[in-house]
Amino acid sequence: MSTERRDDHHGDVRAPGHLARDATPPELRAGSEEADVGVVIVAAGSGSRVGGNELKQFRWVAGKPMLLHSVQAFHARRDVAMVVCVLPKAFVGDPPPWLFQCDIDRLLLSVGGRERTESVANGLEDLPDEVKVVLIHDAARPFVSDGTIDRVIAEARWGRGAIAALPVVDTLKEVDDAGRVVRTVERASLWRAQTPQGFPRDAIVRAHRDAKARRISATDDAALCEALGMPVVVVRGSERAMKITGEEDFARAESMFTLSE
Ligand code: CTP
Ligand code: MG
Repeated sequence: MSTERRDDHHGDVRAPGHLARDATPPELRAGSEEADVGVVIVAAGSGSRVGGNELKQFRWVAGKPMLLHSVQAFHARRDVAMVVCVLPKAFVGDPPPWLFQCDIDRLLLSVGGRERTESVANGLEDLPDEVKVVLIHDAARPFVSDGTIDRVIAEARWGRGAIAALPVVDTLKEVDDAGRVVRTVERASLWRAQTPQGFPRDAIVRAHRDAKARRISATDDAALCEALGMPVVVVRGSERAMKITGEEDFARAESMFTLSE
């Protein structure tokens, strides 16, 4: 099996903007029979907590635009049939040129909604028929690791929802408006939910349809499945999969990038 990279030999094939195209080895590209995983990467937020002129998901972190890290990570897998990137409406017609540094045969662009939940629902609608397992991932978490993806997919293949997550290690306090501690919260059973989150396709589509009908919004997708009583489990995520929420997180992310899972 060749491990040569396409861009070593096709330097003349250029993506828009004359950027080198993706480095996905040919054997990992679309078309393999077992590719039945669809990925929805939500990147349609406005990044209001970071602010500035440029959307946070387009800003550079650890050597490339934030969104491109996750697009390439998913494209590097042969079980991934399609990656749907959900972008703010204005960018779907005029995407940033660097986005094409990937396997463009496995890239679709969808229009985002006002809430994250709506953006995910729009992305789900665009998944091709062959997709049986769906992963949903935040563009704001650029450093998704292969091991985590493996664990999420394995659980979703068993027919249940799976969340990349980490156990809470700090002692948790419930505090009132005056800053006074009301109580100490038992942390032994508490986990911090990350993405990717994975689901059998029919389950997550049903959960989103139900959420839309009942006008429910949630900060993650597993919550919509939980609301319907569907089984959801946690699998081990990683500190590297941190979410970039505020300006200070960019510097922290740079230092996390070099950590192994
Ligand atoms: N997101 C989305 N569509 C929305 C809102 C959020 O696709 N209507 C995406 C964001 O682009 C991000 C992920 O959901 O990748 C997690 O959201 P968050 O970190 O809150 O990003 P923003 O909503 O962009 O930031 P903020 O809440 O500070 O405005
Ligand atoms: Mg938000």
